Amino acid sequence: MRLRAFLPAALIVCALAALPFCLHPVRVAHAAPAGAPAYAANGDLLPPNYREFIYLTTGIDMSYNPKATGGGESMFDNVFVNPEAYHSFVATGTWPDKTVLVLEGRVARTRGSINTRGHFQSEQLMGGFEVHVKDEARFPGKWAFFDFDKADKNGTLIPSGAPCYSCHAQHAAVDTTFVQFYPTLLPIARAKHTLSEEFAREDSAGGK
Ligand code: HEC
Repeated sequence: MRLRAFLPAALIVCALAALPFCLHPVRVAHAAPAGAPAYAANGDLLPPNYREFIYLTTGIDMSYNPKATGGGESMFDNVFVNPEAYHSFVATGTWPDKTVLVLEGRVARTRGSINTRGHFQSEQLMGGFEVHVKDEARFPGKWAFFDFDKADKNGTLIPSGAPCYSCHAQHAAVDTTFVQFYPTLLPIARAKHTLSEEFAREDSAGGK
């Protein structure tokens, strides 16, 4: 009697345990794992899980992007990096292959509390964010930018002639990234002598 009750239950448990394996081939990957970049078949970047990334900085009204200044309100931008790349930067002063940096824009609001002058972060601008990825085998310039209009969609590759690439190549302090504005990383890059030649010259002249 007990065995008869046990057998169907055991069968159900086995079937449930096997379910993930049966479903696996048709399962569509949605979010990439916390670390390395992952791509859809058409070359789009899967949304990185950047809520679990390392925080680098918040800028206010640092944006060069016209869609970020539309409403005349101040904008915050927050920068994050995948933990593997962060640890490597701390050790070497520069970014390893498979670095994923995320810039998200958030509208600044005031009058949220008794302090009416202060600014605090609110909704994400256009629901989106931008990503700077280092994938040496994949991109001829080693790095590429992707635009995410909506956080739940895949990111589209920004073509290599876009101004994103030239401004970052000419003005960013370390390996086309704006480490001069990431206060915990700049001293590391100085100590490891990984600043771009141009930035290092300005840095020693102006003592920025
Ligand atoms: C005129 C210069 C300029 C242009 C053009 C520009 N950026 Fe940037 N970008 C910056 C600056 C400055 C920062 C640092 C932001 C901060 O400190 O808050 C930055 C930071 C970033 C970051 C964070 C990671 C990093 O590389 O430092 C991403 C991602 C990014 N930009 C994406 C883009 C994309 C996508 C475009 C094109 C649509 C673009 N940028 C065009 C100046 C520029």
